[in-house]
Amino acid sequence: MNLFENGFFFYKDNELWCEGVPVKDIISSTGTPAYIYSKNFFISSLLAFREAFAGIESEIFYAAKSNFNLSVIKTFVQNGAGVDVNSAGEFYRAIKAGAKPSKMILTGVGKNAEEIKLGLDHDVLMIKAESREEVESINRIALSLGIKARVALRVNPDVDANTHPYISTGLAENKFGIRIEEALDIYRSHKDYPGIDFTGIDMHIGSQITTLSPFIEAVERLTSLYNKIASMGIPLQHLDVGGGIGVRYSDEEPFSIKDFAAAITPIVKKAGATVFFEPGRFLTANGGILVTRIEYTKTNGNKTFYVVDSAMNDLLRPSIYSAYHHVQPVTLSSKETIKADVVGPVCESGDFFAKDREIYKSASGDLLAIMSSGSYGMVMASNYNARRRPPEILVDGDKFTVVRNRESYDHLLFDEEGLMA
Ligand code: LLP
Repeated sequence: MNLFENGFFFYKDNELWCEGVPVKDIISSTGTPAYIYSKNFFISSLLAFREAFAGIESEIFYAAKSNFNLSVIKTFVQNGAGVDVNSAGEFYRAIKAGAKPSKMILTGVGKNAEEIKLGLDHDVLMIKAESREEVESINRIALSLGIKARVALRVNPDVDANTHPYISTGLAENKFGIRIEEALDIYRSHKDYPGIDFTGIDMHIGSQITTLSPFIEAVERLTSLYNKIASMGIPLQHLDVGGGIGVRYSDEEPFSIKDFAAAITPIVKKAGATVFFEPGRFLTANGGILVTRIEYTKTNGNKTFYVVDSAMNDLLRPSIYSAYHHVQPVTLSSKETIKADVVGPVCESGDFFAKDREIYKSASGDLLAIMSSGSYGMVMASNYNARRRPPEILVDGDKFTVVRNRESYDHLLFDEEGLMA
């Protein structure tokens, strides 16, 4: 049976390690469930991305929505990345983590006036607009502040990213972006928007894309649009190709970052613009795990269940996208395997991490690692069933630091007790 390992999470003497620390040592101080992140995975992924695009002018904006823990954002910022923020809340977090607004992009299909004003007040590098009405709104707000907003239209290139329908965003039927024809029309009428300086164009066609062809097709469309706009005398400066690069969760073999660069560099070169990227998952997914303890094992008929102490409120991806996350023991004590469901304690049948999965045989009390949980894990966690969200731990070499504590019961109440009617 396969073990999921990379240079940052690996087995040594049948124990799972994160960098220079045995996972079980971390858990004996924090308890379960707990998210554990490898700082050096994050850094090396960022460097690999940058290195792959060393041949062109480019900027990487870390998509904070994939993991917005302050220490994670800070790691990317300290290593030279900008940040792509999707809400006022992500903006707030990025600022607290040390990001400079001059290296921030404000994203989102429905930014409200407060968010646009926040971006403008702080002079973020660029605000994306996803509809004509939003362009009008940004224009109005910028004029009222007496400034010019730097804006890029997010174009919907109408290509099929071949990914889960919930995370596919570049088809005409999706809510995202502006059709190419309409975008051209808006750029053409740029003089109608004196509060806006159109500085670029943008796309993001989906997430967990594992083949190159959708990117190639979309980037070709974007580049030719860029050149058309340039020929209209509008001096754009950047071409933003978004994020979406797929990673390995199971035994799939997504393209490498070098393949990605080799495929799109010759296309974007035709525009001669600075190329922006907004990767999230590529930088974080395989840099994190969720560790949980088996509370009970049981069989119902011919099914075996491992009931663990983590649940869908901690990691929602299996429940809502049927996403695969490899599940493996923290201590490999047996080479025997069994077919089992790994399920949480929440009162929903959708509360599972693995179904009918061949896994290493374990017993109650054992620790399991749910792999590839560094992206869209903790950021999508909730307090459903009044469960406290887990702590987050950042490992750096042979040191580990709790960078967010397990929530307290008081946190669950927030201010309700005082407000009780
Ligand atoms: N830029 C924009 C405008 C985005 O909407 C996203 C992700 C990204 C960049 C980063 O995409 P990435 O490189 O991480 O694929 N919760 C889902 C994923 C939702 C992605 C939303 N947008 C999941 O767990 O799979």
